[in-house]
Amino acid sequence: MKTPWEHRYAQRTQRMSSSAIREILKLTQIPGLISFAGGLPAPEVFPVNEIQAACDVVLSEVGAQALQYYPTEGYQPLREMIVRHSARYGLNIGVENVLITTGSQQALDLLGKVFINRGDRILVESPTYLGALQAWNAYGPEYVAVPFDDNGMQVDTLEDALRMGPKFIYVLPNFQNPTGVTLSLERRKALIELADRYGVPLVEDDPYGQLRYEGEHIPPVVVLDGQYRNSVGETYHGNVIYLSTFSKTLAPGLRLAWVTAPAEVIRKLVQAKQGADLHTSTFNQMIAFEVAKGGFLNEHIKTIREIYGERRQVMLDAMESYFPPGVKWTHPLGGMFLWVTLPNGMDATELLPKAVEKMVAFVPGGPFHANGGGDNTMRLNFSNAQPEQIREGIYRLGQVLNDVLAQ
Ligand SMILES: Cc1ncc(COP(=O)(O)O)c(C=O)c1O
Repeated sequence: MKTPWEHRYAQRTQRMSSSAIREILKLTQIPGLISFAGGLPAPEVFPVNEIQAACDVVLSEVGAQALQYYPTEGYQPLREMIVRHSARYGLNIGVENVLITTGSQQALDLLGKVFINRGDRILVESPTYLGALQAWNAYGPEYVAVPFDDNGMQVDTLEDALRMGPKFIYVLPNFQNPTGVTLSLERRKALIELADRYGVPLVEDDPYGQLRYEGEHIPPVVVLDGQYRNSVGETYHGNVIYLSTFSKTLAPGLRLAWVTAPAEVIRKLVQAKQGADLHTSTFNQMIAFEVAKGGFLNEHIKTIREIYGERRQVMLDAMESYFPPGVKWTHPLGGMFLWVTLPNGMDATELLPKAVEKMVAFVPGGPFHANGGGDNTMRLNFSNAQPEQIREGIYRLGQVLNDVLAQ
C-alpha cells in the first residue's frame, strides 16, 4: 500500500530495502529457538572485565578528552597501533594510510559514497556479503557476479568483466561471509596481477582473517599487492583498499573498524565520513586502545579460536551424522559461517518456516546473490550457539530436510 511519504523519497531511497537478515534475526528472539541465522560472536568471549577496567582508566586519566569531539581520521594512538599491527603482517603503512570507521559497515557505505556513480559496474563474488550489497544499492551500481567455488572467486573468469571497466572488485579472501570459503594464494596473486593490468582497484573485506582454526595463514591481498609492487621501504600506495574490524576480535557493540588504503583515498574517505558522523566515538576508540595496547588481543584471539574451532567441528560432525545424502556443505578453515547447498529444486526460503516450527533457524542463501539465484542454499553460523545446542539444532534441521526430501 502506498503511503503519503512514498513519492517524497529520493530515487536512491526507492532502491533501499530492509535486509532479509534483519527480518530473520527477529526470529532469534523466540525463546528456545536455536538460531544459526545471525552473524553474532559468542557473548561468552566478550572481555567485559577488561573493558570495564579500561573504562575506569580512560575516565579517570583522560575523561574530558574521551568525551570530546576528535579529528575524523581517528584516535591517533589507535591508528599507530594499526600501523604496527600491519607491519607484523608484512604491510608497510603510516598513519596517513589508516582511517578509523564506525564498523566496517560504515567503510562499505563510505566507499559507495566516494566511488559509485549510478550504473557503475562492481564485480562481486557470487554469493557475497549481503551488507555490502545493502550499503551500495542506494548508489545504483550494476553488479557483475563472479563465479565462485571451493577456492573462492574464480579469478580466471574475470577478464571479460574487467574489459567492461568496472569501478572496483569486491573480494572477501578469508573465510568468506557467507560461505566460509578461503581464496587460495595462487588466486590472490592472479587477482592482483589482473587488477593491476586492467587498472581496476580491489576492495578487500577481511573481518575474519585472524580467526583461523586450521591450516596455514595466507597473507591478505593488500600485503601481497605491496610485495607485487616491490615497494620496499615505501609506505603503501598500491591498488587495494583493505577493511578490517574489531567486531569479531573485541566486541561488535563498540562499532570500531578501520580502512587501510593509499593516503589519497583515505583523504577522500575522511571527507565523506565528516558528512556522515564527524568521527567514530572517541570514547570507544580510547577503550579499544586501552584494552589492546598491552597485547591482550593476541591472547584473547587464541581463546576465541579455540571456542569457535570446537563449535565449527561440532557442527560439521553433526551434519555428517544427521543431514541426508544429496545435501552438501563447505568445510571452512576459519571464520563464523558455513554454507549448505540443497539438492536442485529445493528452496531454502520455503524450508525456513518448517525449520522454525522445529525451533531452529538459518538464513536462506538467495539474498547473498547480487543478481539472483542460490535459492537452494543457506548460511549457518557456528560461533554463537553452545556446542550442545549446535548438535541439537543440526539434528532438528536434519529432520526437516529428511521430511521434505521424503515427500
Ligand atoms: C564481510 C563483512 N564485512 C563487514 C561486516 C561489518 O562489520 P562491522 O561490525 O565492522 O560493521 C561484516 C559483519 O558481519 C562482515 O561479515
